[in-house]
Amino acid sequence: MSNNILRPEWHLPENRVTPERAYRNRRKFLRELGLANGGLLAASLAAEAAAAKKLYPAQRNIAFSPPDLKLTNERVFTTYNNFYEFSTDKEAVVDRVGKFVITPWPVKIHGLCEQPFTADADELAAEFGVEERVYRFRCVEAWGAVVPWTGFELRKLLEKVKPKAGAKFVKFVTANRPEQMPGIARLRGYPWPYTEGLRLDEAMHPLTMLVTGVYGKPLPKQNGAPIRLVVPWKYGYKSGKSLVEIELTDKQPKTLWETLSPEEYPFESNVDPAVPHPRWSQATERQVDTGDRIRTLPFNGYAAQVASLYKK
Ligand code: MTE
Repeated sequence: MSNNILRPEWHLPENRVTPERAYRNRRKFLRELGLANGGLLAASLAAEAAAAKKLYPAQRNIAFSPPDLKLTNERVFTTYNNFYEFSTDKEAVVDRVGKFVITPWPVKIHGLCEQPFTADADELAAEFGVEERVYRFRCVEAWGAVVPWTGFELRKLLEKVKPKAGAKFVKFVTANRPEQMPGIARLRGYPWPYTEGLRLDEAMHPLTMLVTGVYGKPLPKQNGAPIRLVVPWKYGYKSGKSLVEIELTDKQPKTLWETLSPEEYPFESNVDPAVPHPRWSQATERQVDTGDRIRTLPFNGYAAQVASLYKK
């Protein structure tokens, strides 16, 4: 298998992303229309939803999709979830997401950057253009999968907001809605919202994706709709689901898992078969659909692309 990633040949034009004020005005306008005429608002939102659907299935970028990777069964991957805001029982998450409202979904991009803005998740997907990539996915719990994600490089979004010189990290904040997420109340001691972070160079790496779809369709709620992060060389907990905020900062963000258990879930969290979790080995992983146990690769198989980020 080749791990070499060629620079993609495609180039999608990046249209202007809605500035925050325009975004707010448009939403306010839609809301006001809604008060006067519910039908028109519904029609407008339906048109947005239809436009979003047209993005899927997206064209696969073969430069980022090794042909020898066999996709994990879709039903298994989309019904076996870690999403503690809903349940700690992986197979129960899918049945508890019913009240979770994902439209509209403003995402705020701000902090140490020249041009902060807020845009809806589906607008981001449409503006930046989406493509499919087949990535390995490795959970810290020693299970793995091969997943066709649809999305765009986070780098495109960061370049748009123009990070300031002082920006060293990117913080990712996810939805915190106890009234829609029944798992939050059951884990009262957790430092919600689920927050994650990357160094700026990790966030700018071409493998790091903002994902809005999977298996050729919009993301299901249980997999982090409408927009999540995917960082394929790190344990899955770095890939925050249902993102509401992306902040450029000069300080290493305090993440939920690091706050709860820093020895078990450190900030960096690169997949490394040689470093066991304090309570289990990371040398192998169980494929979620077949149950096959395979050897875990350093950086989850992406060493050729990312090892240089960690040269001392
Ligand atoms: N994001 C949020 N908001 N809440 C979570 O509980 N779990 C993480 C990550 N992102 C989690 C999250 C963990 S531990 C993993 S392994 C992946 O999501 C699981 O993603 P999947 O359900 O799409 O396989």
